[in-house]
Amino acid sequence: MSDIAKLQIGESTYEFPLVKGSENETAIDIKTLRGATGGVVTIDPGFKNTGSCQSAITFLDGEKGILRYRGYSIEELAEKADFLEVAYLLIFGELPTKEQLDKFYNDILDNAIVDDDIKKIIDAFPKNAHPMGILSSLTSALTAFNPSSVNVDSDEEMYNAIVKIMGKFPVLVAWTMRKKTGMPLHYGSRKLGYVENILTMMFQKPNDEYDINPILLNALDKLLILHADHEQNCSTSTVRVVGSSHAGLFPSLSAGISALWGPLHGGANQAVLEMLEAIKADGGDTKKYMGKAKDKADPFRLMGFGHRVYKNFDPRARIIKKAADEVLGDLGVEDPVLDIAKGLEKEALSDQYFVDRKLYPNVDFYSGIIYRAMGIPVEMFTVMFALGRLPGWIAQWREMRLRKEPIGRPRQVYTGANERSFVKLEDR
Ligand code: CMC
Repeated sequence: MSDIAKLQIGESTYEFPLVKGSENETAIDIKTLRGATGGVVTIDPGFKNTGSCQSAITFLDGEKGILRYRGYSIEELAEKADFLEVAYLLIFGELPTKEQLDKFYNDILDNAIVDDDIKKIIDAFPKNAHPMGILSSLTSALTAFNPSSVNVDSDEEMYNAIVKIMGKFPVLVAWTMRKKTGMPLHYGSRKLGYVENILTMMFQKPNDEYDINPILLNALDKLLILHADHEQNCSTSTVRVVGSSHAGLFPSLSAGISALWGPLHGGANQAVLEMLEAIKADGGDTKKYMGKAKDKADPFRLMGFGHRVYKNFDPRARIIKKAADEVLGDLGVEDPVLDIAKGLEKEALSDQYFVDRKLYPNVDFYSGIIYRAMGIPVEMFTVMFALGRLPGWIAQWREMRLRKEPIGRPRQVYTGANERSFVKLEDR
């Protein structure tokens, strides 16, 4: 294949270089398009064909169902690594040595204290506030308490901002949940591992010890790894674009959290469980809901199905489905909603509508069932996704800054009114 793409507009032909990725993905580099053509731009709603950057963090092949972080398969990482190691791998590019990991964790622990005044902000939220709204507000508020995290240019300044947020974010997540469950806020302990500490901060009762259940620990660790990065999805692109204005890491993350909240993105895990519960309450008639999902006049979609990139299967969903069986089995929990989910999956996989559109269960289809079995409230599910995605967002933000990417500022094709004269209010 030639390494040039040719574009003909009227009588003129323009040439653009092809860019190749390390897995042979090919892109047309149109950086010079507008200048060379005197103003022509491309248009691609939803960026379905547009690469926004070159990135060395995550590779995914939607046709083959492949997902790798820094070259390591998600299956191998979910089985053999822990979340903190994966976070280090994503952010810094290589698996850490024992010394590197210990230093990283110590630096995180040194920064795991959140200013006590943040509690006043939490107090001001109504009890029924959605935890994602609270989390994005608190993440943004951290900027005010840590102004040195904003103007970061050097490696050292970036590292300091990273360990700060890796330390404080789990505290905010746990406090967000404790606000919901009405429990006093908890700081965790330096003696615990990263994920052990998260569980303790979320669940320890003020009048009791908290014994970490290895089944829960293992399940949470795996879920966080599976969610840790997913290349240029909606929230990650948001983090990169906001960060490209040099807004600082914390506000960029806060914007990413807001993007994740939507039901078409991370909010799907909450929506899936609510959907499964609604089907159960409606007598468990999965066929009725399959019909609704296929009816173009009905806005209902089968939540947890379909993906912009995966058109074969979502490798994360396979791992999570197996984990859901194991965790519920190990905990001795029987959840009728798991049977409804399996029934829906079976029907959808053999239904022509879903087959034709290559719609498969995604990462969110089974994750909520595990979170619920762990005792996490439904409204917290997307917060748990955010906790997992944190290292991915950080890695992508860091890469964007290190590559000195320009500010994100797309073009448009204007379709509004042509110039017209203002008409005074009394004359309209
Ligand atoms: N139920 C019913 N029909 C669907 C669904 C669904 N869940 N997803 C897609 N379709 C149909 C859609 O109506 C369209 O049909 P047609 O070609 O006849 O118009 C076709 O499939 C293509 O859909 P699309 O909306 O153009 O595809 P997209 O790539 O823009 O959207 C998606 C991807 C994930 C937003 C979409 O599949 C969806 O809304 N799924 C449900 C929400 C969900 O589970 N989101 C979590 C995504 S994975 C976790 C994450 O990354 O956050």
